[in-house]
Amino acid sequence: MTTITLPAIESGEACLATGSGKLRVPGYLLEEKSVQVDEQMAEQLVSAARSAADGAYAPFSRFRVGAAVIMKDDPGKRIFAGSNVENSSFGGTICAERAAIVGASAQEFRKISLLAVSTPATLEMPLSQRSPCGLCRQVIREFADEDTLIICDSGEEGFLGDVLDIERLLPFGFRFAKQ
Ligand code: THU
Repeated sequence: MTTITLPAIESGEACLATGSGKLRVPGYLLEEKSVQVDEQMAEQLVSAARSAADGAYAPFSRFRVGAAVIMKDDPGKRIFAGSNVENSSFGGTICAERAAIVGASAQEFRKISLLAVSTPATLEMPLSQRSPCGLCRQVIREFADEDTLIICDSGEEGFLGDVLDIERLLPFGFRFAKQ
């Protein structure tokens, strides 16, 4: 186990007056945060995500993605892996991250400890080309807490991946307010 520190992110609020009220740019504050990571688990998970990409069904985009997740509430600390499954309708396509998460959820595990995503074709590219899509970010959020970490596999020499928490991955993500 080792500690990883996620740096603070801060931006101020801004307003623009219009004839029918103010337009607000909301301020944002994420405090610096330390999270425990099991390095071996992280390595295993990234490699499981890379392998899972081999199983992708991606005849349309030819873009293979693999994901692997370990759940906090799984005493067995199993690795649930998934890959993207494309569909002729396009809209029916399921991303790798969601495939992995639904597998874990089907076993009634609902708290993500660590999730790795791997896009072998773009490993050398900027983070935006190897990080979860918006829809997957929202699905990750459903089962994430403040200790959840998401690792985006990187092909950069000497790097295992880029690490984010859900607030850094999906600022202002939607939450269904309790009634
Ligand atoms: N894809 C994923 O599996 N995960 C993502 O987060 C981004 C996109 C898949 C969907 C589609 O099969 C292919 O990558 C191209 O978008």
